[in-house]
Amino acid sequence: MPAASSAAHSEATAFSGTKACVFDAYGTLFDVHSAVARHDDSFGGKGPEVSALWRQKQLEYTWLRSLMGQHADFRQVTRDALDYAFARFGVADGALAEKLMAAYDRLDAYADAAACLASLREAGLARAILSNGTPQMLASALESAEMSDHLDAVISIEEVAIYKPDPRVYDLVCRRFAIEPHEVAFLSANAWDVAGAAAFGFQVAWINRRGEPVEVLPGRPLAQVSTLSEFAELVLRAAEPGQ
Ligand code: LAC
Repeated sequence: MPAASSAAHSEATAFSGTKACVFDAYGTLFDVHSAVARHDDSFGGKGPEVSALWRQKQLEYTWLRSLMGQHADFRQVTRDALDYAFARFGVADGALAEKLMAAYDRLDAYADAAACLASLREAGLARAILSNGTPQMLASALESAEMSDHLDAVISIEEVAIYKPDPRVYDLVCRRFAIEPHEVAFLSANAWDVAGAAAFGFQVAWINRRGEPVEVLPGRPLAQVSTLSEFAELVLRAAEPGQ
């Protein structure tokens, strides 16, 4: 896959000089569809469709609120999107909505998430999350997945109160670690987040679990992987002496 012509690093040197590995949270480390999956029998076979619409609206509302200058935190946006999805599917069950919101605080982590983070620690690389989630949502999800100890920083967009892919969000990483954008290896499953992070100047890998095409936007991934472990291997290989 060709690297973007504007990228500072070619494929050959991709991920060299990495000082921090930064992960998107929802969809990348945590399976956003695991909340509805736990209550699948409440949706008469339509669980996956409800979950997909919930996620789609959640993201749309982040982008729209950022453009409107009407910030609300990710818990609120997530609840608003759930209300919309329920309305579209004719579900009127406040108790079920509460259960789904509670499930969002303890989403399943992908199977290789903890091992991926642990292997990067062994190589002395800083590891962080950069997410739309509120600090509380992220702390709950990490605690439930027993991954709290695997991260050096958990950075929430609440620090700037605007959502990805605003460049101010990606800059939070540079400020936190006092490093340059090209010293960040960033991984996201969200193709639009990949574009935003690459356009900002991070070295970006896309975990493309569904085999989707690359977004036609400024900012291209330097690599595509299908598992979290593959990303760790990529970064660790680039960090080896002589690379
Ligand atoms: C996040 C969303 C994009 O964690 O999944 O920031």
